[in-house]
Amino acid sequence: MSALSFCAESHAGCLFRRECIVTVTSVVGLQWGDEAKGKIVDILTDSHQVVVRYQGGNNAGHTVKFDGETYKLSLLPTGILRPGVKAVIGNGLVVNPEALLKEIQSLTDRGVPISGENLMVSDRAHVILPYHIVEDAVYEKRRGEQAIGTTGRGIGTCYRDKALRSHAIRIGDLYHPNSFRTRLADIVVAKNLMLKALDPSVELLDADAIFTSYTRYAELIKPYVVDTTAWLHRALQADANILFEGAQGSLLDVDHGTFPYVTSSNSSSAGIHSGSGVPEREIDRMIGIVKAYTTRVGGGPFPTELNNEIGQHIRDVGHEYGTVTGRPRRCGWLDGVATAYGARICGVDEIAVMLLDVLAQLDEVCICEAYEIRGERTTDFPSHVEDLEVAKPIYRRIPGWKQDITGARKLSDLPFGARAYVDSISELMGLPVKFISIGPDRAQTILL
Ligand code: IMP
Repeated sequence: MSALSFCAESHAGCLFRRECIVTVTSVVGLQWGDEAKGKIVDILTDSHQVVVRYQGGNNAGHTVKFDGETYKLSLLPTGILRPGVKAVIGNGLVVNPEALLKEIQSLTDRGVPISGENLMVSDRAHVILPYHIVEDAVYEKRRGEQAIGTTGRGIGTCYRDKALRSHAIRIGDLYHPNSFRTRLADIVVAKNLMLKALDPSVELLDADAIFTSYTRYAELIKPYVVDTTAWLHRALQADANILFEGAQGSLLDVDHGTFPYVTSSNSSSAGIHSGSGVPEREIDRMIGIVKAYTTRVGGGPFPTELNNEIGQHIRDVGHEYGTVTGRPRRCGWLDGVATAYGARICGVDEIAVMLLDVLAQLDEVCICEAYEIRGERTTDFPSHVEDLEVAKPIYRRIPGWKQDITGARKLSDLPFGARAYVDSISELMGLPVKFISIGPDRAQTILL
């Protein structure tokens, strides 16, 4: 590979010049995902030459407005939209090659150039195979009322096979056809036995058909497949500005989130090192993304959920429907206890408050500042889901501002109530707010 060189001076004229100083940045969601991370990643991409995804798969959904167009990305890092930026799919992802190729095609159809020059996929990433998707559905069906509410993309079942090892296929394995064919035949026998036992209505899988389609996918994705870990280390040596783009959110982290109602990867910043090979000490700036209220898709406890007209109002105004599945998101007040916990897990330096404009017409806005659990007040986030289920939120109430704020461009343009609300978020989290987003456009961002 040719020597890498990155020009640190190339953003002298950019709107967000302050963001150019730092070399390695991480953007991570502090709630249950869908915090509008894509917008901040997009702003920061101006000053970064490399954007890296390190966990998850095509369960994620990012909506990005770029050059007046709206793009919905799932597996591809947001940086793919920017000329000159390298987008990296790290080793920590689970990759469905068919979904990857479809996403590449949909972007190239819209004129976004994608080649081995601007997209790199780790040969260590794990491959989602058709049986992972079938298993995901079978397990969810068997859980009935306790269903996790997965995206149905075979994410958890692929990560399970990664941990199991004997049933795992990595991208690099696709280029060793003899051993791939032998291992696949063996795996499919086991999968068919298990699936049939769990759900007799399931259609049996055909190893030969899977082998044929996956060897074809392997050829098609070959231009992008590299050892991304080695590539990232070279980029670091060449002083590239690297941006880590988290998917989902910290409360969905398999170790630190609301287990078992979580995704199956480390979706907090804990996943950066394992999912990219870049040590955490390389990260200069950790930005936590906080939606001005809370949303969640799928099952699991949600203490500040609003099953009333305010929740519906937030859903309607915030267009709170899943990017990947289209499911209506559950909506509620901002949970300061959960979000501050997410920030502690991630080691966040600063926060971005997103979608503040959505709360504009409410008489009053609330932030949960503590829980009452079985009569005791606490600001600790419970480790067991049954404790979180009985947690009663204790709210700080702030008068609504009842005013459109989408035209605000500086802090002083915001009405008193909106500023008081942002101050409360900062105080409860013990962190400075550095961005306030008051609309989808880049210009609708207040930098502090
Ligand atoms: P899975 O990742 O498909 O296994 O789903 C596990 C849980 O994570 C479910 O509650 C999903 O709704 C949730 N989830 C997965 N990806 C996202 C996301 O990008 N945003 C929000 N929730 C997600």
